[in-house]
Amino acid sequence: MSGLKKSDKCNIRIGKIEDGEEILHIQSTVIAEDEYLITVSEEFNNTLDQQREWIQKLLENEKENLIVAEIDGEVVGWIVFQSKNKKRLSHTGSFGMMISKNFRGLGIGKMLLNELIGWAENNSLIEKISLGVFSTNHSAISLYKSMGFVEEGRKIKEFKMDENEYIDDILMYKLV
Ligand SMILES: CC(C)(COP(=O)(O)OP(=O)(O)OC[C@H]1O[C@@H](n2cnc3c(N)ncnc32)[C@H](O)[C@@H]1OP(=O)(O)O)[C@@H](O)C(=O)NCCC(=O)NCCS
Repeated sequence: MSGLKKSDKCNIRIGKIEDGEEILHIQSTVIAEDEYLITVSEEFNNTLDQQREWIQKLLENEKENLIVAEIDGEVVGWIVFQSKNKKRLSHTGSFGMMISKNFRGLGIGKMLLNELIGWAENNSLIEKISLGVFSTNHSAISLYKSMGFVEEGRKIKEFKMDENEYIDDILMYKLV
């Protein structure tokens, strides 16, 4: 299947509790890639019930959102926006996203992020979208920049990958 065909058939929609299993699968597979996420496999042991509960809470919160990308009925990627309860942080939130490895580079991440930005722009409670990304994650950084995100800071040596191997955390934002 060519890249274009894969992304052509892509359906972007709000996530639902029934997506829990597929989201969990993508999450554990991408964590196992062991490259760009803070959590490592041995720390990730969410059960399906916990995953569904997490989705339910997200969907009940008007300042949070879960959007999935589906191809031929299969969830191949997702983006989650989560906000803080604190009053002085309540206008902000941050997102995380992941696409199944076989479906990367097809424009699906861009579609998901575009949908999230549109939702945030139309949500009067959200004024700032934030994120943190490994400084080595060039594809993610270039995606975020292409969507108008700007670097606002950098946490030096924030992630220790191995003895003498560190990665900075790049903080980015977009006002909506
Ligand atoms: C980062 C990630 C979400 C991007 O999703 P994607 O569907 O592959 O990205 P897209 O195909 O929509 O690409 C959108 C843009 O990202 C950039 N990009 C994507 N892949 C790239 C690559 N391999 N190299 C450089 N830039 C790349 C480009 O700017 C691209 O725009 P263009 O095609 O117009 O040039 C995906 O690679 C992923 O899930 N990675 C693993 C998990 C992860 O790192 N999550 C983010 C943690 S902060």
